[in-house]
Amino acid sequence: MGSVDILLGLQWGDEGKGKIVDFLTPKYNVVARFQGGPNAGHTLEFDGKKHVLHQIPSGIFHDGILNIIGNGVVLDPITFKKEIEDLGPYNLDLKSSLFISSRAQLILPTHRLLDAAYEKSKGQSKIGSTLRGIGPTYQDKMARVGLRVGDILEKDFDSRVHKLVSKHCEILDQYSFEYDLEAELSKLFEAADMMRGFDIVNTEYLVNDLLNDDQNILAEGAQGSLLDIDFGSYPFVTSSNTISAAACTGLGVSPKRINDIFGIFKAYCTRVGSGPFPTELLGVEGEELRKKGNEFGATTGRPRRCGWLDIPSLKYACMLNGVTQLFMMKVDVLSGLSDLNICKTYNLEGKEITQIPLNYNEDYHPNLETIDGWEDIVMKEESDFPTALNSYITEIEELVNTPISLVSTGPDRTETIVRSKAVFSL
Ligand code: GDP
Ligand code: IMO
Ligand code: MG
Repeated sequence: MGSVDILLGLQWGDEGKGKIVDFLTPKYNVVARFQGGPNAGHTLEFDGKKHVLHQIPSGIFHDGILNIIGNGVVLDPITFKKEIEDLGPYNLDLKSSLFISSRAQLILPTHRLLDAAYEKSKGQSKIGSTLRGIGPTYQDKMARVGLRVGDILEKDFDSRVHKLVSKHCEILDQYSFEYDLEAELSKLFEAADMMRGFDIVNTEYLVNDLLNDDQNILAEGAQGSLLDIDFGSYPFVTSSNTISAAACTGLGVSPKRINDIFGIFKAYCTRVGSGPFPTELLGVEGEELRKKGNEFGATTGRPRRCGWLDIPSLKYACMLNGVTQLFMMKVDVLSGLSDLNICKTYNLEGKEITQIPLNYNEDYHPNLETIDGWEDIVMKEESDFPTALNSYITEIEELVNTPISLVSTGPDRTETIVRSKAVFSL
C-alpha cells in the first residue's frame, strides 16, 4: 500500500518548497499540488538553470514521474498555457506525465480583475495580494457559482463563461476600472482549447488507484502555514487552507494515507505583502538579508520583508501540521554574520506570551535573544557545519521538539545536505 508524504511551508511562503520537492522527487512515483494556484512561485535550480513554476508541480523535470494538479487547486488556463510553452525547450513528455483534476476551479480573467478592484478599494489596508485572482475564485467556489476544469469539456462551456463573466462585470462596474475584456476572453478560450489536449480526469480516483498500486505520492504545498485562511494572520492571508489537512481535501485522500509531513522553513523569516511580522528588520540589517538572500518574489518580483527566526510561529505551524521532520533552508544567507537573533516568546505589557494571538499588533514585541553567528565557509556535508551552526540547529530542534533532517546551503539542487538523523535517504 502506497502512502502520501506532504511537504509544506511553515512560514509566510517562499521557504524553498520548489527546490526541495525537485530534490525529493526521485524517491516518489507521483508529485501532486493540492491547493493554491498561480499565486505560488516555486523556484528550481539545476545544471546552471533557474526555473519558476506557478501551477505545475515541481516534479515535472524528472522522467517517469506523474504530476497531478489536484481538485483543491485554482487553475488559470492562460497562465497554464504560458507555463507549458515555457517548458517547450526541455522536451518533456507533458501529455503523459501531467494530469489535471476535473474538479479544480477555473480562474477567469474577471477573477483577476476583481482581485485588483478589491485590493484597490482597500487602500492602505490592502492585503498585498499577488493579483492572480485567487481570492475571488475561491469565493465563487464557496458561493457555488464557480466553473471547474472539467467544464472545459462541456458543450456549453463558452456560454457558462459568459454568464459568470457578466455577473463579475456587474460588480466591476461599481469600481472605476479600465480593462480590455474581449482580449482577455479570447486568450482564455485559446488556452482552454489547448487544455483539452491534456488528461483532465477525476484525479481522486487516479490518486487512490495509484496508492492501492503501491505508488508513493509527494504532496507539494503552496504558500505557508502563516498564510492559512483559518490559522494565518487573518485577514492578511491567502484564500485557501495551506496546512497538511488540506492535502486530504485537495486530493481526495483519507488522512489514514498520510505518512511523513515535512515542514520547510528558512533559517530566518520573510514575508511578501502586508500583515504583522513580529521579528521584521526594518533598517539596514533587513536590507542586507534581502540582498544576500536575493529576497524578491518569484511571482511578482516584489521585495520580501526580512526578519529573524520566530519560534512561537514555527511551533504553531508544527502543531497545526503535525510536522514529523523539519527542513531548514538558506543557512548560507546567515553565514558570516557575527551574531544573530532568535525570537523565543513575545512580550505583551510585561507579560511573556508563547501563543500566537488572534491579532498581533503594536502592543506585542518579540523577545529577542542574541546567539553566536558562524563563519562563511563552503559546506558540503554535515561534518562541515561550524560549531555555532550546530548549536543553532540543536536549539531549534529542542525548542520545536522536531528533528531537522535536511539543511539547504544554496539554491542549486546539489546544495542540499541530508543529515545523518534523517529517516529517509537518497
Ligand atoms: P517556494 O515558493 O517555497 O518554492 O520558494 P521560492 O522559490 O519562492 O523562493 C525561494 C528562493 O530561495 C528561490 O530563489 C530559491 O532559488 C532560493 N533558495 C532555495 N534554497 C536556498 C538556499 O538554501 N540558499 C539560498 N541562498 N537560496 C535558496
Ligand atoms: P509560494 O507557494 C509568498 C501572499 C501574498 C499576499 C497574500 C495573499 O511561492 O510560497 P493571494 O494572491 O494569495 O490572494 O495573496 O499571500 N502570498 C504568498 N507569499 N509565497 C507565496 O506562494 C504566496 N502566495 C500568496 O503576497 O500577502
Ligand atoms: Mg515562492
